[in-house]
Amino acid sequence: MTHNSSLIINDSHHLNGEINIPGDKSITHRAIILGALSNGKLNILNALLSEDCQKTITALSSLGAKITLSDSAICIDGRGLNSLKKPSKIIDAGNSGTLARLISGILATQSFDSSLTGDESLIKRPMKRVIDPLITVGAKIASDKCKLPLSFVKSSMQPINHVSSIASAQVKSCLLLAALFIDGESQISENVKTRDHTERMLEYLNYPISINNNIISITGKKVITAKDITIPSDISSAAFFIVAALIKNNSNITLQSVGVNPLRTGIIDVLTSMGADIKVYNNRTICNEPVSDISVKSSKLKPIKLSGDIISRLIDELPILFVACACCDGTSVIEDIEELRLKESDRIKSMEDGLTKLGIKVESTPNSISITGGIFNGGIINSYSDHRVAMSFIIAGLVSSKSITVLDTDNINTSFPDFAEVLKEQNIEIYNL
Ligand code: S3P
Repeated sequence: MTHNSSLIINDSHHLNGEINIPGDKSITHRAIILGALSNGKLNILNALLSEDCQKTITALSSLGAKITLSDSAICIDGRGLNSLKKPSKIIDAGNSGTLARLISGILATQSFDSSLTGDESLIKRPMKRVIDPLITVGAKIASDKCKLPLSFVKSSMQPINHVSSIASAQVKSCLLLAALFIDGESQISENVKTRDHTERMLEYLNYPISINNNIISITGKKVITAKDITIPSDISSAAFFIVAALIKNNSNITLQSVGVNPLRTGIIDVLTSMGADIKVYNNRTICNEPVSDISVKSSKLKPIKLSGDIISRLIDELPILFVACACCDGTSVIEDIEELRLKESDRIKSMEDGLTKLGIKVESTPNSISITGGIFNGGIINSYSDHRVAMSFIIAGLVSSKSITVLDTDNINTSFPDFAEVLKEQNIEIYNL
């Protein structure tokens, strides 16, 4: 992999007007997977064609799915749940934890053997969280210390009865996908609600699924109906521009058709409680997902204290929220964030390291961070090959007294390939080093 770098200078333009945010990553992964398992033809519109989602297309294609790209859509000719074939080589999930966890549920339940790996970062991330519940119902999965690469050996599976001990939509979705291939009714429940895109999409595609008091009941081997799927814009990508507009004086932006699934909108709730001028309007439902337009005006932000269930509703937005906290007068404390250490990088460490380098006072414990607002001094920041860390520090560059150089920014392609272009359209000076 080549490593390039981006530099953003501080005395940049404010942000103004409409900003185009790409399609939602979580929903695009699910649309490709469920589309490939459906019976019939469908188009996925406004899909995110980032590196992570391309890996999902390649993975499903290697399992025999018929997926093509047109100018405006991912086109899938779904051949049903029974159509998957043994892949000719190891499946590579690249940098994508979502793909690795979700596809494990499918590979564990097939009548053929297969194997799965990932890139340098993904092979260090925990897979035990999906291996254990799959093994409990009969899966045969070989690994070294429950890390990728994994080998799946065909086996007979019993219905799943699982209560999630960690708040993870990836674990829940892995088990929901496994349940599609298992005879009988499976039940999956979670103590803390996590993003429910898989459940919503299954409902939208007429798959029988019922949800009662956090218990999801799903019977295997029914039919997924092929229907076109329109993907909303990704609130996790929008978050970078929402915070950018808030911290950069005189900004006033609008973002259209952003996914506002209540299990993803923690960032809007928290920023609003910090004093942000954010309006969410034109609320509608597209393909069983809530969607709205959002406008944001620069605002003076107050520090916050956060802990508990809110964390899973803004887990991917924490790095950019830390940047917002670093722009407040006073100290913010965010607790119960141990999961952040298990993402594309240890995001508590990556953000603490970068913010400290910029001159911000940061303290952390294994599961919390405290950030005292100040002025960014500029400097050279390591992104630790993590897209959300890289984008967070580029946004910090908008208000830094000297330029910020972010190293190793190729990873932004995993979720937001046009990120630098969108900033340039705003007349912001960002260029490769
Ligand atoms: C995702 C779930 C979250 C999130 C990730 C995408 C998903 O991970 O951090 O970026 O699409 O299901 P966990 O479920 O592991 O918290």
